[in-house]
Amino acid sequence: MYDLDRPRPLNDDQVKIFKTKISDYFLDSQKNIIVAQQDKKIVGVASIIYLQRLNRVKTEMYIPELIVTEKLRCSGIGKRLMQYCMELAKKKNCYRIRLESGNSRKESHKFYKSIGFEQSAQFFSKYV
Ligand SMILES: CC(C)(COP(=O)(O)OP(=O)(O)OC[C@H]1O[C@@H](n2cnc3c(N)ncnc32)[C@H](O)[C@@H]1OP(=O)(O)O)[C@@H](O)C(=O)NCCC(=O)NCCS
Repeated sequence: MYDLDRPRPLNDDQVKIFKTKISDYFLDSQKNIIVAQQDKKIVGVASIIYLQRLNRVKTEMYIPELIVTEKLRCSGIGKRLMQYCMELAKKKNCYRIRLESGNSRKESHKFYKSIGFEQSAQFFSKYV
């Protein structure tokens, strides 16, 4: 998560909150965490949320986080993680996979295009 510029916990209370979020993910049938391991170390992570859409019979696979550890990027790990997600999406009978990528992440956009994803929407947000 830190590799993805996610904020680090500022204190022990926040560490607890993040740990709880991860264990909740494992307990929730509508969520998955996929990891890539090398020499027993986690070197890549994809998180998944299955979203029920009111206008679709099938579920949507949403990937909020995808990160490969910096020194191992461009060695095929991200592609393998996403291939696994694609297989899982078929098994779970999802109609599509969706994810967001900030405008500044130009390199990631090339990655997504190289594995067959297309830019199909604009993303609007407002901090509250
Ligand atoms: C984006 C990210 C997950 C890609 O994972 P990766 O392991 O580095 O990518 P891979 O090595 O599996 O690359 C797969 C394909 O994408 C292409 N690709 C990957 N990074 C690329 C880049 N920076 N520029 C151009 N193409 C790229 C590769 O050429 C490769 O194509 P090929 O199979 O034809 O050779 C990884 O770079 C990362 O963690 N980046 C920082 C976090 C991030 O931006 N996450 C996405 C948030 S939206």
